[in-house]
Amino acid sequence: MKLKYILLTLLALTSLAFASESAIYGKELIPNILGYDKEGSLHLGQWFTLLQSKYFKPIFLGVLLGVPTAFFIHYLIIGPMIFSHDRKKIYVFSVFHRVIHTIAAISFILLIPTGVVMVFGDFFGGGEFVRVNKEIHAISTLLFVISVVPMLFMWLKDMLPTSDDIKWLMILGGYLNKRKDPIPAGRFNAGQKMWFYVCTFGGIIMILTGAIMFFQDFKFDFIASLGLSQIDLLRLSAIIHNILGFAVLALFMTHIYMSVFAIKGAIHSIISGYKEEEEVEILHSSFYKKLKEDKKV
Ligand code: HEM
Repeated sequence: MKLKYILLTLLALTSLAFASESAIYGKELIPNILGYDKEGSLHLGQWFTLLQSKYFKPIFLGVLLGVPTAFFIHYLIIGPMIFSHDRKKIYVFSVFHRVIHTIAAISFILLIPTGVVMVFGDFFGGGEFVRVNKEIHAISTLLFVISVVPMLFMWLKDMLPTSDDIKWLMILGGYLNKRKDPIPAGRFNAGQKMWFYVCTFGGIIMILTGAIMFFQDFKFDFIASLGLSQIDLLRLSAIIHNILGFAVLALFMTHIYMSVFAIKGAIHSIISGYKEEEEVEILHSSFYKKLKEDKKV
């Protein structure tokens, strides 16, 4: 009899321990212990369960395998762009730019693989390994928090849309051939701008939605005043975090491919601050024209 009571108590405690987690994942096993209402006014429970169980993982896997495969094929068929390293060098990234970029880069080198481990937690056997990755993911977010706002302000002016962007998009940046025709772009091209907006504004949303999921049990009167319950907020955050995660992952891999493989030697610019003159003349022709007018080259 005594054993029966002990077992029942253990069962009840285990259920309580899982309740907060199961609530976000749409599987309310017991009446909600955090005092959230079960379904929430947005009725996201079913949607969340469906997305989480059927779509998020295959999409992440598709991005993870598809993007590098596409670039591998591009590298084999078209190959890297190679610019002369014998001409002048143009100073484009200040020390401040490079320091902020390095902090962001370190944070992403940690954020991306740990995020992937969390998405495929069951593949990695759950448990301690996934838990440690979750902690690293949270800690490396702090590095990103430090870098994202300075990055947003230091490059925003040069990232504003221009008519060059449409022309750049129409020829896909000239990356489908190896001709050295001048490409319409200012200091940054449309592809770089896309990455900038996803990693800054998108990154800030990732930070906020990530924090909501990390801290879970907190109350903001402002959220309640919008008619959102805590469970609505958690599910909505998880959905947004995953969807933005697809874009960040895809564009991060693109960014690495462009910087390290597609434009030979491009990575040196973010280390030394200098770009090859021929690279600027071809890939950022409007910027180069302006530099010439200002007698800076
Ligand atoms: C981790 C490895 C990374 C490498 C090797 C890398 C490399 C580079 C290089 C070479 C450039 C200069 C590109 C050019 O103008 O030709 C650059 C610029 C830039 N990087 Fe990174 N980066 C990395 C990570 C990141 C991260 C994590 C972020 C943001 C969170 C980021 C955001 C940017 C932005 C917004 C620019 C300016 C626009 C652009 O060139 O795309 N980078 N990076």
